[in-house]
Amino acid sequence: MFEIENFDLKLNTDFIGRNFIYVEEIDSTNSFLLDRKNGVNESGTVVLAEKQTKGRGRKDRVWYSSKEQNLTFSILLYKEFKLFEHLNLINFSASLAVANSIENLYQLRTELKWPNDVLINKKKICGILLESSSQGNKIDRVVVGIGVNVNQSMFQGQFNYPPTSIRIEFGREVEREKLLAEILNNFEFYLNKISTESNYITREWKEKCRMIGEKIYVKEGDIIKNGIFDDIDNEGFLLLRTKDGIEKITIGDVSIV
Ligand code: BTN
Repeated sequence: MFEIENFDLKLNTDFIGRNFIYVEEIDSTNSFLLDRKNGVNESGTVVLAEKQTKGRGRKDRVWYSSKEQNLTFSILLYKEFKLFEHLNLINFSASLAVANSIENLYQLRTELKWPNDVLINKKKICGILLESSSQGNKIDRVVVGIGVNVNQSMFQGQFNYPPTSIRIEFGREVEREKLLAEILNNFEFYLNKISTESNYITREWKEKCRMIGEKIYVKEGDIIKNGIFDDIDNEGFLLLRTKDGIEKITIGDVSIV
């Protein structure tokens, strides 16, 4: 059982999570916030579900998560037009928020994988799915969906990356309320940096990405590109050094060769 009062006591934000919706079961917290018919228009709204029946990952993958053990939630950003010019930095803010929260609370060393996975010991502890919807030709709604493997101790299913959880890495169960509040506190901190000091985010992100300088390949559909992970640019795109020069990568799955 998730104790909302306990979570609320630890939440220290201006707007993220101030409108908090807790549900036992839902198809997908991302789908819920993306659907205008549900009438949720308060920016910063967080929906946390104990179980998703159609939890989604990037590239239409399924996101598996055992009931009541983990954190599966989405954050709505509504009409935050200045932020919407920097979607990748919103992604980075979310992955940095999760990584730093795990490091601060449990002293576990995390690593970031482009574009937005959080790893511990080369295994995936968190996935992030950012989706948007437009009115006319303007994005007015961005939903940041975050799945953190917290207290689950076994994983079944097909994974493109081996999963792990905080419980497995830390050796005992942890309090989800405290972790969620810490993630949201950190997320708001990084979001504020996007408009004031965006290179703070890219700098911190690069410090936690241990693939820079490595030989990698990037797979997008049937296309595979090989090269050296040279850098990321100011907007968070991957710069791949190939024999023809530097290529900017906007989408794809990255692996070390
Ligand atoms: C990925 O690694 O492919 C992204 C996984 C994102 C999963 C989260 S769980 C909460 C939110 N609701 C969804 O349906 N997906 C995201």
